[in-house]
Amino acid sequence: GLARRIDRPIVLVGMMGVGKSSVGKRLASLLNCPFVDADEEIERSAQMGIPEIFEMYGEDYFRDGERRVIARLIDETDGCRVIATGGGAFCNAETRALILDRALTIWLDSEVDTLVERTARKDNRPLLKDGEPREILARLREERRPHYSQAPIHVLSGPGPHVQTINKVLQGIS
Ligand code: S3P
Repeated sequence: GLARRIDRPIVLVGMMGVGKSSVGKRLASLLNCPFVDADEEIERSAQMGIPEIFEMYGEDYFRDGERRVIARLIDETDGCRVIATGGGAFCNAETRALILDRALTIWLDSEVDTLVERTARKDNRPLLKDGEPREILARLREERRPHYSQAPIHVLSGPGPHVQTINKVLQGIS
């Protein structure tokens, strides 16, 4: 196979716009294991979009729901599964602890320019609404680095095609 036999969840963490979902989907299909997007699971269980959850209940409430959903996704994993998380999940101490304890964690990082370009494609990120996206992304990236760097595997997600990032992830886990 392309990588060693994976017998636990692989969790992708990192900033909005690094490509966690795109890379995760393709990685899962190469590893022949299922993919799940934690943000989509949160929306499904809340029956609401993430912007609406932030607007109606605030970020703290979202983080609690996010932690429960990620715990469930990890718990119910049988063998391998690739889980993409929202950019802030790994910066919550309890969520980070449970991910580090039970999954193989991969930090995808990109330069700010790449984050700006990729997040501009969709208008669904409440944290980018209250200011200049570039400034917010640059600040969050610095604030969150100490958390993300606790992941055992670091991969740079460059501005080019995701296939390059996926190859680096495969090297990292094999
Ligand atoms: C967030 C990132 C989003 C989503 C929410 C909060 C964050 O996910 O969970 O808008 O705090 O960085 P993506 O990283 O998939 O954009």
